[in-house]
Amino acid sequence: MLKQTLLKASEAGAAELSRFFNGEFKISNKEGINNLVTEADHAAEKAIFEVIQREHPDHYILSEETGEIVMDSSYKWIIDPIDGTVNFANGIPICCVSIGLEHDGQMILGAVYNPFLNELFFAQKGFGATLNDKKIQVSDETELIKSCLVTGFPYTYLDAPNGPLQVFEKLIRKGVPVRRLGSAAIDLCWVAAGRFDGFYEHKLQAWDSAAGFLIVEEAGGKVTDFKGDHYSPYQPHIIATNGKIHDELVKVVNGGEL
Ligand code: IPD
Ligand code: CA
Ligand code: CA
Ligand code: CA
Repeated sequence: MLKQTLLKASEAGAAELSRFFNGEFKISNKEGINNLVTEADHAAEKAIFEVIQREHPDHYILSEETGEIVMDSSYKWIIDPIDGTVNFANGIPICCVSIGLEHDGQMILGAVYNPFLNELFFAQKGFGATLNDKKIQVSDETELIKSCLVTGFPYTYLDAPNGPLQVFEKLIRKGVPVRRLGSAAIDLCWVAAGRFDGFYEHKLQAWDSAAGFLIVEEAGGKVTDFKGDHYSPYQPHIIATNGKIHDELVKVVNGGEL
């Protein structure tokens, strides 16, 4: 079963995170000095691939560290072996394995597993979202000004018009709490669980949001691009909320006043 493969793969990846966490591991830089990849990212990716390729050798895979394994298949696994690598490398237990499964271009399953907080978020299209097997739901806050938000910052693009710094400044100048956890997948899941009312981020990659956006939608939330249109993880910008503050947040992200 696809769900079982997803859960086994998430566990196998998470076991690698736990094995390396706070221990000795090799850290390398990607583009930019703080864009890191560790030995644990590669080990987790390998463990995840082993499960998926053993059970579904004909499926397509897209994964952060390896890139694409192109197959002629209607199924595509989208994998972030560690989302929150900078946290991981610093011993901060806010990081996870994130895996989404697409069928015919539609996300049908998603799992985000943070072994350090012992939190497994899961969603199946049309069947709701869970945290450790208990149903979760987005918050019911209706006003942006009273909301608790979360965001993240890309390594480039910070100063673009209506870019990350401008939007952030506008919100915090109005006193809106905007947190920065350092893992987009966890940000999304915490919106799904009602801990945050909304999340927005510029410049994400498909593997950052593939599982998390389905988890938000299945928890009753709304996920769109910055225009407020249908969300695709293959475009960079995301707004994910409880639905009730969505239009207000879309407006602010596009330069509107709060
Ligand atoms: C990063 C995290 C972070 C986000 C970055 C991502 P990584 O992913 O999701 O929250 O702000 O844009 O690159 O590199 O830790 O997998
Ligand atoms: Ca990365
Ligand atoms: Ca990521
Ligand atoms: Ca990653």
